[in-house]
Amino acid sequence: MLTFSEQKDFDATHLVTLYAQAPWAVGRSLADVQEMLAHTDLALSAWDGDRLVGFGRVLTDYIYRASIWDVIVDRAYQGQDIGTQLVQRMLHHPSLKRVELFWLCTRDKQAFYEKLGFSAKEQTGMVWTRAKQARSE
Ligand SMILES: CC(C)(COP(=O)(O)OP(=O)(O)OC[C@H]1O[C@@H](n2cnc3c(N)ncnc32)[C@H](O)[C@@H]1OP(=O)(O)O)[C@@H](O)C(=O)NCCC(=O)NCCS
Repeated sequence: MLTFSEQKDFDATHLVTLYAQAPWAVGRSLADVQEMLAHTDLALSAWDGDRLVGFGRVLTDYIYRASIWDVIVDRAYQGQDIGTQLVQRMLHHPSLKRVELFWLCTRDKQAFYEKLGFSAKEQTGMVWTRAKQARSE
């Protein structure tokens, strides 16, 4: 049976394993993922028994802005509405009901997010990336 959870204290090795399926997250270390979870405002996970099958998270000020990150569904479970439910649960979470604007980055999943009401009309984002070597100093 599929269940959703907001607990952040689950064994993060499950998430490291799930991240390994995504090119943008492969290689994330257990220690970094544990720290990320500790500092994330809302972490939503989907479980089939004790198997982590989906994940997504929100960083927010609870009023003006929220950003959605790391939405991922296990390959074996894709196409079963889990990604949709994860995003819907984030958008409509009681603690985020005053947030004016939700923002996310996606390279090739526009169609998935457009179905959920996201728009790509305002292409205003810019990014600055810290070099990998500088991150470990
Ligand atoms: C994108 C992703 C989260 C979708 O999760 P999912 O559980 O498979 O999606 P759902 O079953 O809720 O699908 C909802 C709808 O989006 C569509 N959809 C799903 N994945 C899609 C994709 N990659 N591209 C376009 N449409 C997609 C489905 O066909 C479905 O449409 P329908 O309602 O008309 O049938 C999942 O495929 C995934 O984890 N992909 C790899 C990780 C990734 O790249 N994440 C995006 C980070 S920005």
